[in-house]
Amino acid sequence: MKKQAIEKKDIKNYWENKSPQTWYSDKDQEKNSTSWFNELAYKRYNVYYEYLKEIAEFNYHKDEKVLEIGTGVGTDIVSYAKNGSIVSGIDLTENAIDITKKHLETFKLSYDKLLVADAENLPFEDNYFDLVYSFGVLHHTPNTEKGVQEVLRVLKPGGKFIIMLYSKGWKHYIKRLLIFGLLKGYLFKYGYEKTVNKTTEVQGNSPLTYVLKKKEIKKIFRDGEEVSIKKYRLGEFFDYAPYNTKKLPGFISKFFYFFGLERLIGENYIIKGFKRNPNKEKSKVKTSVWQVIWDEYKNYK
Ligand SMILES: C[S@@+](CC[C@H](N)C(=O)[O-])C[C@H]1O[C@@H](n2cnc3c(N)ncnc32)[C@H](O)[C@@H]1O
Repeated sequence: MKKQAIEKKDIKNYWENKSPQTWYSDKDQEKNSTSWFNELAYKRYNVYYEYLKEIAEFNYHKDEKVLEIGTGVGTDIVSYAKNGSIVSGIDLTENAIDITKKHLETFKLSYDKLLVADAENLPFEDNYFDLVYSFGVLHHTPNTEKGVQEVLRVLKPGGKFIIMLYSKGWKHYIKRLLIFGLLKGYLFKYGYEKTVNKTTEVQGNSPLTYVLKKKEIKKIFRDGEEVSIKKYRLGEFFDYAPYNTKKLPGFISKFFYFFGLERLIGENYIIKGFKRNPNKEKSKVKTSVWQVIWDEYKNYK
C-alpha cells in the first residue's frame, strides 16, 4: 500500500462539512431529532449495511469497555450503549463528536469519554478497552498501519477488534475505474490515487481513501491474533439518495448472494481478531483432526 501524503487538516476539513450517514435521510425532518436518529438507524441496519447487525456484535459486549474510532453521527456507538456497553468514542471532527453526544443524550444513554482526537494518536492508556470497533475510518487516515497499532495498544490483552476497511469489490472496477476512470477520463486527468479518492464516498471528492488488498490487510494486522478477514456487502446501490434509488435489479443481487459471491466481490473487508495475550495458557494438547476422529471412533459405543 503506497502511503499518500495528505495533511490531517485537509481530511478534517472534508469530514467536518460532510456528516456521514446523513444522506440516509430522505424525509424533511429536524436534524438531531429522535425521529431523524431513528430513521438513520433503520436505514443503516435494514437497507444499506444490513450485515452490521450481526458482525458488529452489538449485543455481545454488555458491561465491557468499548471504543469506537470515527463515530460519525454515532449510530453504532448508540447501538453498543443501548446494549449495555460502557462506550467511548473519538472522531477527528468537532461536528461528529457533537452529533454523537446529542445522539447518546437523546436516548438517555451514558458514555465514558467522547473526544475529538486522531486515530493515529489515541488519547487513551495502554490495555484499557475490551473491544475496539471502527467502521470505514482507518482507510481515510494517511497512516492506516499506525491506526491499527493504536487499536492494539489500547486493547487489553485478549481484547477484540472489529474493523471495516474498503476492499476492491466489483464497483471498484466498474464504477471507479471503468465509468469514472476511463469513460469520464478521471484516470487521465488525475491518475489512479486521486480517481479512487474522488469516487469512493457518496459525497465525492474524499481527500484520501485507501482501497485495500487482502495481502496488505494481513500485513497491517500481523501483530493481532486469530485475525479473520472477510468480504461483505455487494453494494447494490449506485446512487443512495433519495432513498433506495438506482439499485441493482433484485434478481441479480439474489443470484450473487445465492452463489456466495459477496465473499468474492463484496466491497467491505471486515477484519476481526484479538490482541495477543502473553498470559494466556497455551494449550498443551497437541493433536490432529485425524487423532480426534480416531479417538472418537475408538470410544464410540
Ligand atoms: C466514512 S465516515 C464513517 C463514520 C462512521 N463510522 C460511519 O460508519 O458512519 C469517516 C469518519 O472518520 C473520521 N476520521 C477520518 N480520519 C480520522 C482520523 N485520523 N482520526 C479519527 N477520525 C477520523 C471522519 O471524521 C468521519 O467521521
